[in-house]
Amino acid sequence: MRRFRLSRPVALAWEHGLIRSGASVFDYGCGRGDDIRYLREHDVAASGWDPHYRPANPVEAADVVNLGYVLNVIENPAERADVLRKALAPARRVLVVAVRVDRGPLSGEAFEDGLVTSRGGFQKVYTQAEFLDYVESVCGCKPAPAGLGVAYVFKDPALEREYLARAALGRSAFGRRFTIAEFESSELGAAYLSFARKLARLPRPSEFPQFAALAERFGSPRRIRKLADAALDPAEIESLRLQKREDFLVCYGAMRLQGMRVTRAALLPAETQADIRSLWPSYRAARAEGERFLFSLGDPRQAAAAAQAASVGKRVAGSLYAHRSAEEQLPALNRLQLFAARQIVGDTEYDVLKLAADGQKVSFLRYPGFDNDAHPCLQSSLAVYLPRADYGFRDFSHSENPPILHRKDALVDETYPLYQKFAFLTRQEEKRALLSRPDIGRKRDWEKVLRQAGLEVRGHRLFRRKSWPAGP
Ligand SMILES: C[S@@+](CC[C@H](N)C(=O)[O-])C[C@H]1O[C@@H](n2cnc3c(N)ncnc32)[C@H](O)[C@@H]1O
Repeated sequence: MRRFRLSRPVALAWEHGLIRSGASVFDYGCGRGDDIRYLREHDVAASGWDPHYRPANPVEAADVVNLGYVLNVIENPAERADVLRKALAPARRVLVVAVRVDRGPLSGEAFEDGLVTSRGGFQKVYTQAEFLDYVESVCGCKPAPAGLGVAYVFKDPALEREYLARAALGRSAFGRRFTIAEFESSELGAAYLSFARKLARLPRPSEFPQFAALAERFGSPRRIRKLADAALDPAEIESLRLQKREDFLVCYGAMRLQGMRVTRAALLPAETQADIRSLWPSYRAARAEGERFLFSLGDPRQAAAAAQAASVGKRVAGSLYAHRSAEEQLPALNRLQLFAARQIVGDTEYDVLKLAADGQKVSFLRYPGFDNDAHPCLQSSLAVYLPRADYGFRDFSHSENPPILHRKDALVDETYPLYQKFAFLTRQEEKRALLSRPDIGRKRDWEKVLRQAGLEVRGHRLFRRKSWPAGP
């Protein structure tokens, strides 16, 4: 079977910025070469070798080497370790290793340390912890978990630090600041700001002739006001300083969790060095604070208190829920918790985060309909128990009565493009006293509540039901 998109490990390495323009990729155990073909189509110099499909190809050194789902098909444990070492050797900057990590039991007959499946193939199925320990024991350094069953073994420490800094600050870390920067640097945004400075206040839409074009690019008047406020207000500068301080602590904690000792500021990216100089009297002082901060991760009460004080997200029964777009705005300690959770399960797709009231559990919740459905259904949850470095997966995709979300506006911040839409529905539902009821948490129950109230939701609006559905 030919694949028409990247395999998961290569897609992750791409998304994480490890495969970037100018980087070469070698696919060790490349199968039919689907990843190679796709990468070449996107102007990445890629080649590969496979004992079965491309035995004549040479094994070549490359910036990134991929060993994707090869280890788990090798029956002999000694050969498996040998293949891992052989794939590591030609990697100049990083080796990407992927194995099958199953979420549920796999049936088959025991063979060596794995199973022979019903289709006759051998599979060594790992748990995440076993996989990471195994890679570390063979490669001699701690791999960075990139996802369930996917890990990076870095050979280039600068690339590792860069990756960790990004991973620690979250995928959306640069999102909000980027939007503000984009607003400031765009021709229209800059014109609007300079007019605002002249007026010493924000211009009303009618006062700014190109307002319609500005709105088309950046959203509603309210959103534009927020962006402009953020670009102009000195308090925002102070809050950015605070954020930079927290960003450093999170990055520092992340590097220490990854087992790196950052003894000299010179080992850090130039921008971080400049931040440290402007925020602390010395690197020693910054490190001391970093160590204290890292230590506080071991105290669930502090994590729980941080979540309670968060300025984003909604609290339900003591737990904090927040949309992924708000991840960057979580308190530093909670962001470090997220990093610690990703140390266990890697980067995992999710829409909403849940930080448990006890400060010990982080759950990544998938709501594929988050933007479009007024009350999206929970598809799956991956809960990570930090003290035990353990996790549990629950699949609701076949459930007829899955948990659903309400008050989506409380999960995002006001700059989220759909904030107004979400907030409007919440106000309507509140007015009808629907949200204070205890029986609205699941799809069926919510539908029943709406029916009994003679209401229905269309799009993100509540309407009086036109007619009762015909009875049986
Ligand atoms: C499940 S496929 C994965 C192919 C590809 N990497 C991907 O992700 O689509 C496993 C591949 O491992 C290859 N393989 C088996 N033993 C190997 C070995 N000792 N060294 C390298 N590759 C091996 C097989 O030929 C097969 O193509």
